[in-house]
Amino acid sequence: MKIRTHRCGELHKEHIGQTVVLNGWVQRRRDHGMVIFLDLRDRSGITQVVFNAERNMKIHQAAHSLRSESVVSVVGQVMARPDESKNQNLSTGEIEVFIDEVEILNEAKTPPFLIEDDAEVTEAIRLKYRFLDLRRPRMQRLLQLRHGIMQTTRGFLNTEGFLEVETPILTKSTPEGARDYLVPSRVNHGQFFALPQSPQLFKQVLMVSGVDRYYQIARCFRDEDLRNDRQPEFTQIDLELSFVDREQIMSLMERMIVTIFHTVGGVQLPTPFQRMSYAEAMGRYGSDKPDLRFDMPLYDVTAFGASSQFKVFKDAATKGGIVKALIVKGGAALSRARIDALGETAKSFGAKGLAWLKVTAEGQLESVIAKFLDAKGFAAALPEAKPGDLVLFGADKASVVHDVLGRIRLLLGEELNLIDKTAWRPLWVIDFPMLDYDQEQKRYVAMHHPFTAPVDDDVSLFESDPLKVRAKAYDMVLNGSEIGGGSIRIHRRDVQSKVFDLLGIGKEEATVKFGFLLEALEYGAPPHGGIAFGLDRLVMLLGNADSIRDVIAFPKTQKAQCPLTDAPSSVDSDQLKELRIKLDLVQ
Ligand code: AMO
Ligand code: AMP
Repeated sequence: MKIRTHRCGELHKEHIGQTVVLNGWVQRRRDHGMVIFLDLRDRSGITQVVFNAERNMKIHQAAHSLRSESVVSVVGQVMARPDESKNQNLSTGEIEVFIDEVEILNEAKTPPFLIEDDAEVTEAIRLKYRFLDLRRPRMQRLLQLRHGIMQTTRGFLNTEGFLEVETPILTKSTPEGARDYLVPSRVNHGQFFALPQSPQLFKQVLMVSGVDRYYQIARCFRDEDLRNDRQPEFTQIDLELSFVDREQIMSLMERMIVTIFHTVGGVQLPTPFQRMSYAEAMGRYGSDKPDLRFDMPLYDVTAFGASSQFKVFKDAATKGGIVKALIVKGGAALSRARIDALGETAKSFGAKGLAWLKVTAEGQLESVIAKFLDAKGFAAALPEAKPGDLVLFGADKASVVHDVLGRIRLLLGEELNLIDKTAWRPLWVIDFPMLDYDQEQKRYVAMHHPFTAPVDDDVSLFESDPLKVRAKAYDMVLNGSEIGGGSIRIHRRDVQSKVFDLLGIGKEEATVKFGFLLEALEYGAPPHGGIAFGLDRLVMLLGNADSIRDVIAFPKTQKAQCPLTDAPSSVDSDQLKELRIKLDLVQ
């Protein structure tokens, strides 16, 4: 085989006249009789090569047998394309290569779909034939983007004095709270490793070890329900630092993300990042990861609801709930059917209903519930609602109202094209509550994880009002996606014990679960904190991909399967015997 002198995307005007060797895949063949054109592709792009019968009859004959996706090596001369056939969309569009030698390195079967970005193909087929799917230019671009983000991250952190340290994959359960993936131990019958949901405990141990600044591009495993931005196996840019406070971590991480977006994507993120308390994010946008590319806030109209004659509002307000409103600008034009459909959507999100009213041109209220409402009182309570607007209401417990209206807000933002798709709106969400109350388990659970430190001023609330205790935690949010989260950790044993008490984690349970970390914390643990970014989500955002599966070379389906390898799959009975495992499958 003749070894290439250039890559397929590299040739331009300066190469005219040169003899070159190209190796690559046949993208497409166009037969024009005496002249056969071939698009030759490799990772770098495409070059048009020409088999001209007048130049070389034998070679022209050979070109007839070249099929799509076959691998070839060609030798030829770079020529300028005639003006009328120049292609501005191609990096090599000004030239073509006239071929004098061709060698077929490998024939290809007819691929199940065209290797083009807009080929019509289901995701199941794409994932089964991932080796072909990844040949498509868009997928190559995403792989390169991912590579760029990883390299820039490493470069940045190396300069800032971080050490890259690997932590185990075969380990013990970590405190992120999803279900674990388990691996049975052959040597220790009946015992299991858990795959890490994150390197959380190890990175804290590394701080006790004096590593000072740690990072890892770490694989994490969580057996949870999958969504478009969640995979069971995903990658974090994971960091931990000693002798720092929240401000230092946040400003360093802001610089890192700004550097990544600028270096890899040419995107200038607006700085400094806006900061918003969890309470404001929930109250104003109904989400702890607000999409700030459009405004459309939630308005509190509980007082108005309480004084109205509408039973739903009155009841919610008097029973400790809230009434909130979303204004759809110009939404009075929406049909009754559309509004009813929104109501059904709200119900599917867990609401009991979605009351609405239209403000008419005369400032009157038009709605089935108008008779229960005082128009003047309404205008005073919500002066932002103008003639021609539609107002949607949620009345319930605060958590339900925020969740439902927050999701309706996003849905309408998308549907009514309110979202500026060219905008980048990063922010920090801070001052998360440390605890949440789990209604099902009837106990407090950690919002972030049980090693997150409380805000100093709030420690006194531990006994009196635990839900008011704020955590030294921070999430970075970009365009409505949580791209990273972290916290300052508890480094003192007495505070840690208090938190475990609140969470109902007994001494024994704590020792079984996190004994090694607790012990490490007793041997001179420095104050420390850290953060982890979802690498896949960063690539998704910067690469404008709709699905996390597009930015992972070999992802799992929504059903947590890999169509390429057919994993997970059954194993031999001998393997099970060795592990002393008996299956008890429920049919
Ligand atoms: P957390 O659980 O918030 O924190 O995870 C950090 C970031 O990882 C991303 N992420 C995911 N991405 C894809 N698929 C998933 N299933 C998935 N789950 C999480 C998100 C998220 O912001 N140990 C702590 C970090 C710390 O405290 O330092 C942790 O794992 O972008
Ligand atoms: P009803 O009194 O059940 O006929 O409801 C009248 C209107 O109030 C309908 O548009 C319902 O969708 C709406 N509604 C009912 N319950 C709620 C609620 N909890 N929050 C907001 N709107 C509601």
